[in-house]
Amino acid sequence: MTRFICCFFILTFTLWIPMAGQAADPIVIRFSHVASPETPKGQGALLFQKLVAERLQGTVKVEVYPNSSLYGDENELQALQEGKVEMLAVALSKLSSYSPQLKVFDLPFLFDNQAAVDRFQTKPSGQQLLLSMQEKNITGLAYWHNGMKQLSAKRPLREPEDARGLKFRIQSSPVLEAQFEALGATPIQLPFRQVNQALASGTVDAAENPWSNIYSQKLNEQQRYISESNHGSLDYMLLTSASFWRSIPFSTRVQLESIINEVTYEVDRQAEDINQKDKLRIANAGTSEIITLTNEQRQHWRTAMQPVWQRFEAEIGKDLLKAARLANEAH
Ligand code: LMR
Repeated sequence: MTRFICCFFILTFTLWIPMAGQAADPIVIRFSHVASPETPKGQGALLFQKLVAERLQGTVKVEVYPNSSLYGDENELQALQEGKVEMLAVALSKLSSYSPQLKVFDLPFLFDNQAAVDRFQTKPSGQQLLLSMQEKNITGLAYWHNGMKQLSAKRPLREPEDARGLKFRIQSSPVLEAQFEALGATPIQLPFRQVNQALASGTVDAAENPWSNIYSQKLNEQQRYISESNHGSLDYMLLTSASFWRSIPFSTRVQLESIINEVTYEVDRQAEDINQKDKLRIANAGTSEIITLTNEQRQHWRTAMQPVWQRFEAEIGKDLLKAARLANEAH
């Protein structure tokens, strides 16, 4: 009996001591995205990683994979749904097949500026869109800004007629497809990481992106002209999968959500600054002529592109469209 008790204690303690000394495995968040680390989204992912490391004391670990190094445009959403990655920040345009209402963000000349986009996103109608993909196991945690899009091309674009016949690279969005068709141009959908090469080889002649993406992907080195059109915005939804988010202990989730709020504030505060600095860098690099459109020219682009709204109104919904338009009025 004594021998049995001795054995019991030895076994219990030898098993228990190392277990007590071992921390539980951290929750790992693989954060994959397609942009460069210097962009608003890239900076946001790195800040999230830093704050989680500082505040969650090894219970959560964030791994950041920029530049499509883990998943790219073609497969990142599926990877999220299948639990191969836990966080993404996807351009709203690329979500329109998952949530038709999100097409509202792609309508050309709908938002006067980035501040209007921000006002719409913070309204209840904008906020409810974060949860519009729950049934597909996709949860929106926040919107992150990048900036307004500019038109770049191998020839100067001053009037809408200048775009006729050009091949424009687009993100996967039927609204963007319609937008370039309305100009008599040919839209060609390509993953982000292929854009530079496609412009270099002549697969496409033109593109649309905010300054930060143009500069960080060196697209300006392939595009002799960039028209400052501000015709639409490129923003992101920070995404996780509903099943992963539910699996996190409540108190950890609350801490993560508070960090996300802080990071979102920082991303949005810095996005315009990053874009303006990158515009200046492009100007200084001398690769491309930056064309400033006159008010009249910009109005011509608006007139040429705006018929696209009508085509998507039913899918987006009249009320949502109205709420978005009203966001142009600062209160
Ligand atoms: C694009 O494909 O042009 C953008 O969505 C890339 C990005 O994530 O900013």
